[in-house]
Formats: sequence, C-alpha cells, structure tokens
Amino acid sequence: MSLYNDAESILITKEMIADRVRELGAELSRQYRDKNPLMICVLKGSVVFFSDLIRAMDIPLEIEFMAISSYGNSIRSSGEVKVVKDTDKSLENRHVILVEDIIDTGLTLSYIKNMLERRAPASLKICALLDKPDRLQVDIEADYVGFKIPNKFVIGYGLDYAQKYRNMPDVCVLNPKIYNRQP
Ligand code: IMP
Repeated sequence: MSLYNDAESILITKEMIADRVRELGAELSRQYRDKNPLMICVLKGSVVFFSDLIRAMDIPLEIEFMAISSYGNSIRSSGEVKVVKDTDKSLENRHVILVEDIIDTGLTLSYIKNMLERRAPASLKICALLDKPDRLQVDIEADYVGFKIPNKFVIGYGLDYAQKYRNMPDVCVLNPKIYNRQP
C-alpha cells in the first residue's frame, strides 16, 4: 500500500520545498551572521523542515528542541497547549529563531511566543514552513514563511494526521474521507 493512498493531491513538491528552504537558509544566514542564533525546533511536526533548514545555513548556530502536545486525532486546535519538553538552554540574551511547521489558528504559536518572550531573549523571530492565513484567529505573524497555503488539511514533510504521513517527502492535501471517518 502506497504512503500516498490517503493523499488527495500533492500541494507542494519536494523540489519546490528544497528551493524555498535554500532561500530561507540563505536569508537567515545573512541576517544572523555573527549572532550565533539559537534555533528551536518545535517537535514533532517541524523536525524535517528544521533539519533541512539548519543545513541550508552556513553560519555558526545552536539547536534546541521543544515538544508541545498536539491535537490527538482531531484536525482542530484546542487552544490548549501543553509543554511536554522544554528547552535545556537559557534563552537570555540569545538571538532565538523558533521554527514551526505550520500556522493554522495561530493559537499554538502565540502561546509559545509569549512563553519564550518572558525568558528575555535578545531577539525572537518565527520561521514557519507553512501559513494558512484564512484560519488565523489571533494576531500573530511569522517573520519568515515558506509557503502560504489554502485552508486545507495537509500532511507530509513532517506534518501528520494521527501521527501518520510525516515521512512523505512532499506536502499533500489529506483526503477528507480520512478524517470524516472519525466518530
Ligand atoms: P494552531 O494552534 O491552530 O496554529 O495549530 C498549529 C499546529 O497544529 C501545528 O504546529 C500542527 O502541528 C497542527 N496543524 C495545523 N494545521 C495542520 C495541517 O493542515 N496538517 C497537519 N497539522 C496541522
């Protein structure tokens, strides 16, 4: 059975992703030269994007991981965010780049951003692979965005539905039949 059976269509091909990641990496390298940025990966969805992005940057940097509770098997954000794993290092006086997979309602990002801002970083910027502007519920914007996408539930390149499909190399639209099956 193919990994792509539950995909309705390919929205962003792996080639498009690779090109855009290269551009983002070059831009971040220009802006953070001599700043030794602390790049924070928000697990699990960002892990594929994060590992490509840091390798597209040719400057010294450090990495950290945070884990946030997800929706479970639902496709909607509850607005309740639980930090399952926090960063190990202090953010004080550091130039921090928070790397997210996707901004949907913005609730998750807004929560994490407020939490990290209280830790006195020298600067805090957000880099998100995908942005669904039609769904935004809070006033938050990423500083660097890979692609703006329509209001569709997407999978692949780290993004999941019920923990599946993260290893698809392309970003695909999930066939609505899959989540409409839920009770
Ligand atoms: P928000 O709080 O609604 O902005 O949701 C953000 C989180 O929900 C992301 O970090 C993803 O883990 C998940 N998410 C939102 N939209 C999608 C999607 O289309 N596919 C997969 N995960 C999604």
